[in-house]
Amino acid sequence: MTKRVLLIIGGGIAAYKSLFLIRVLAKRGISTRVILTRGGSEFVTPLSAGALSGDKVYSDLWDLTDEAEMGHIELSRAADLIVVAPATADLLAKAAHGIANDLATTTLMATDKRVLYAPAMNVRMWESAATQRNVKTLRQDGALFIGPDAGAMACGEFGEGRMSEPEEIADAIEAALSGVTTLDGLKGPKPLIGKRALVTAGPTREPIDPVRYLSNHSSGKQGYAVAGALAALGADVTLVSGPVALRAPERVNLVKVETAREMLKACEAALPSDIFVAVAAVADWRPAEAGAKKIKKDGTRIPPLKLEENPDILKTLCAAKNRPDLVVGFAAETNDVIQHATAKRLRKGCDWIVANDVSGDVMGGDHNSMIIVADDGADTWPKLTKEAAARRLAAKIAEHFK
Ligand code: CTP
Repeated sequence: MTKRVLLIIGGGIAAYKSLFLIRVLAKRGISTRVILTRGGSEFVTPLSAGALSGDKVYSDLWDLTDEAEMGHIELSRAADLIVVAPATADLLAKAAHGIANDLATTTLMATDKRVLYAPAMNVRMWESAATQRNVKTLRQDGALFIGPDAGAMACGEFGEGRMSEPEEIADAIEAALSGVTTLDGLKGPKPLIGKRALVTAGPTREPIDPVRYLSNHSSGKQGYAVAGALAALGADVTLVSGPVALRAPERVNLVKVETAREMLKACEAALPSDIFVAVAAVADWRPAEAGAKKIKKDGTRIPPLKLEENPDILKTLCAAKNRPDLVVGFAAETNDVIQHATAKRLRKGCDWIVANDVSGDVMGGDHNSMIIVADDGADTWPKLTKEAAARRLAAKIAEHFK
């Protein structure tokens, strides 16, 4: 279904870029309806906004025909996202304080949709304590922000205050429409654009019968963080995950699986890929026969649990015809970490092994101490949060492809 954006064009010189934004969105299959504030109409005309959006342009709250036909409540209801671009200091202040004295501000106050602001103003106005307070308030209320960028401004000054470029605002709009709650990671260099990455995460669950299974304590946090960090650098990421209680990171294709065999199948289906990072704690064994019916207690005999080996996903993909260019395995070790990891790297056939000492609280915890073992030796990283460790690993991967 076509996504619909309600674009509020505020009164700033950057308003001309918002006309271009309408075109960029149309090319991406997103339709736009425009509210032009009184200030906005000093910079662009309703005629040009209407011609580009292919829709009526709304501007005056007290136009009774408009209110009857499409009031401020209806305008918000008909949209999937509200975008304010340029968001002037005045609009931010009114929205932060619940001042509603025209169509744009009543719409902002009445809406239950997410609002994305693309601020544009003089650097001193942006840096003023009042604007910064208002931005903080709006963020706390759940609003998203893109920009402003630093650069030369129409007023002749230099600094932060320029509205982001239409393409960038469109990226933020697409991210916001996909339901993200933060745009962190959207900006910044994207060295992995054009690269495909496959990441496994979480435990696997091996059924004993329809109600029981074998599994482990993996939380999936590290794998999800790696998938998110690779996506933030521009990679096209498929995350194959066992059962965990986590939300998929932004802009990542999530494939949910239960067993090791399902995980292998999903990984093979995701090839070809440039990068493979195997973070999952795959169960090494599975019950040889998973009963179709719940095993009943009969009071005399404890059922034996016969196990058989699961496929080694990392090893299988390393030996595959279409082996990813860079394969990174993880090794959970409790002792002689580097020694075991070095042997494991050779045994599995991967390029790097990220060894972690799981004798502490790594599994399920929020921190990780990683040692990266490659053919040129071992690099020991300090104890980091799983997110920070993932960003560092993603940066190292990007460096490898430079
Ligand atoms: N791995 C996998 N498939 C398996 C087992 C492990 O893809 N069936 C991957 C993990 O995702 C990880 C790496 O192999 O990247 C090492 O996992 P680990 O459990 O430490 O290695 P094992 O081969 O199980 O060795 P051991 O348990 O004997 O240390």
